[in-house]
Amino acid sequence: MTYLPAETRYDNMQYRRCGRSGLKLPPVSLGLWYNFGGVDVLENGRAILHRAFDLGITHFDLANNYGPPYGSAEENFGRIFAKDFKPYRDQLIISSKAGYDMWPGPYGEWGSRKYLVASCDQSLKRMGLDYVDIFYHHRPDPDTPLEETMGALDFIVRSGRALYVGISTYNPEQTRQAAQILRQLGTPCLIHQPRYNMFDRWIEDGLLDVLTEEGIGCIGFSPLAQGILTNKYLQEVPEDSRAARYENQLHWGDKVTQDRLAKVRRLNEIAQARGQTMAQMAIAWTLRLPAVTSSLIGASKIRHVEEAVAALDNLTFSEEETAVIENILAE
Ligand SMILES: NC(=O)c1ccc[n+]([C@@H]2O[C@H](COP(=O)([O-])OP(=O)(O)OC[C@H]3O[C@@H](n4cnc5c(N)ncnc54)[C@H](OP(=O)(O)O)[C@@H]3O)[C@@H](O)[C@H]2O)c1
Repeated sequence: MTYLPAETRYDNMQYRRCGRSGLKLPPVSLGLWYNFGGVDVLENGRAILHRAFDLGITHFDLANNYGPPYGSAEENFGRIFAKDFKPYRDQLIISSKAGYDMWPGPYGEWGSRKYLVASCDQSLKRMGLDYVDIFYHHRPDPDTPLEETMGALDFIVRSGRALYVGISTYNPEQTRQAAQILRQLGTPCLIHQPRYNMFDRWIEDGLLDVLTEEGIGCIGFSPLAQGILTNKYLQEVPEDSRAARYENQLHWGDKVTQDRLAKVRRLNEIAQARGQTMAQMAIAWTLRLPAVTSSLIGASKIRHVEEAVAALDNLTFSEEETAVIENILAE
């Protein structure tokens, strides 16, 4: 089957400028952290990517360690890219990252130039790409001088491996320093990728101010707290859900607790009154701030992508809705 993207794909998506750069991103981007690995069904991932692009999602986010197993999401993406997306390379923003443990020994994680350049080369090979659009340092490294890590990002751009660079999960101070070093090197920091959702609002406490001042875009990951901010767990934990499949492995403290579900039930009532599903309201809520360029979702089903894109039909929150949501989240 030859994939032909929908001709209507650019009709409804309102792209947003990423910081003070020339690059625009879709307000909803798709990440391949889960559901695209060696343990997953390739044709399902392929169908999700097709639908996403058909709906105007031009940005796919990967990292060296996405899978499981590590590397397999990039390999699978590479297969799908070669088959379906190659003619559309110039219409896509593909990102990858390095920072977490990827291979054994002292050069397989963190932020040395040795690790970042080697990992970028490995990612390009797995995906069958000449370059990635954005290459990120995935997490701050407490031991490597920031000059070395940012110097490696600058080199990755100058050597043609990436067009832009970004950082992920850096705190406000680290972000300011990284931005300054990158600016001096002549490779501005395009984007920051922090976690941002109704249950995790750390970026409102200083980071967004730094990003605005520095002209850096923001793509918030896990807007659904890995699925908890949807209605999927309100009755039970479905067998095919991430919480069931990766029990006890869910990162960032995303546990399905009664306390959280009680909040989601109340939030769900507000969503319904807005004519949205819980997932849609959670995504719209992350996009209410002008400093947030894109909401970086995950999806195990085509309908997750469709639901997320339909969230863009209502991104405004009344004062009353905002106040009620704040109350629920603060309790
Ligand atoms: N920079 C970093 O350190 C970092 C860390 C984590 C993630 N990320 C990036 O962010 C991306 C998104 O992260 P995430 O997958 O945690 O995002 P998320 O959008 O919070 O969660 C996605 C999961 O929620 C469930 N879901 C999605 N839409 C749904 C709907 N409408 N109804 C019910 N359930 C729904 C699905 O889980 P089920 O499998 O249960 O169906 C889906 O896999 C990743 O792929 C990655 O690119 C970056």
